[in-house]
Amino acid sequence: MDAGERDAPMYIALDLPDLAWRAAEEVVHTAQEAIAIREVFHLALSGGFTPLPLFALLAMPEWAARVDWARTHVYWADERCVPPDSPQSNYRAAYDALLERVPVPPGHVHRIRGEINPHEAAAEYERVLSTVTLDLVLLGLGDDGHTASLFPGTAAIHETEQRVAAQRIAKLDAWRITLTPAALNTAGKVVFMASGAEKAAVVRDVLRGPFQPDTLPAQVIHPESGQLLWLIDRAAAGML
Ligand code: 6PG
Repeated sequence: MDAGERDAPMYIALDLPDLAWRAAEEVVHTAQEAIAIREVFHLALSGGFTPLPLFALLAMPEWAARVDWARTHVYWADERCVPPDSPQSNYRAAYDALLERVPVPPGHVHRIRGEINPHEAAAEYERVLSTVTLDLVLLGLGDDGHTASLFPGTAAIHETEQRVAAQRIAKLDAWRITLTPAALNTAGKVVFMASGAEKAAVVRDVLRGPFQPDTLPAQVIHPESGQLLWLIDRAAAGML
């Protein structure tokens, strides 16, 4: 793959609030389209700070009313191996900011069980995803090039069979559960979100630098027949 093949539509927002607004529009429109065609919307969320303003926006009544939450199923692109009430839990972050504030049926919230053995949690989530094609995956970007919990130098970057992997991340001295390219690249739409000047160099490297996915795992994300969209703010776009 050369740099040209990594060209994807990009929206450059003014700042993080503007980015959240644009991402919320993407969620609303993708949900409406999926529900119109298949009567169900499968949405995968990420952790980190970047999506928090988006979650807050979607929880506001005027935005919440634009998504048919009763037909929406929620998943995660990755999870930290902590209990669901931990401040580090990606499930908890999304629950507190969004899911407890919108009428999504509890049975439609498919969290990764970070509190059990990581291999068992990955196998369990593999079963959860076995009959699901994700309509929309929201991904973040770490300043080391990771996305979801596909970290540099880890085997999960090259996983094309199993959709979910348990991976020990040496530099974090922690386990993570992550969707693999087998799940992420079969999604209908994948949206990267990145904000702030501290992301500018990695945004440049992922999009414009040589293809080296072991170093920059975000480069393995290229949906086979779905769409890829980058939503970044001006600061994160500063080195493009
Ligand atoms: C996680 C993630 C991770 C995140 C990036 C960006 O669990 O931490 O899902 O991939 O999206 O690290 O994080 P920020 O949004 O905080 O920069």
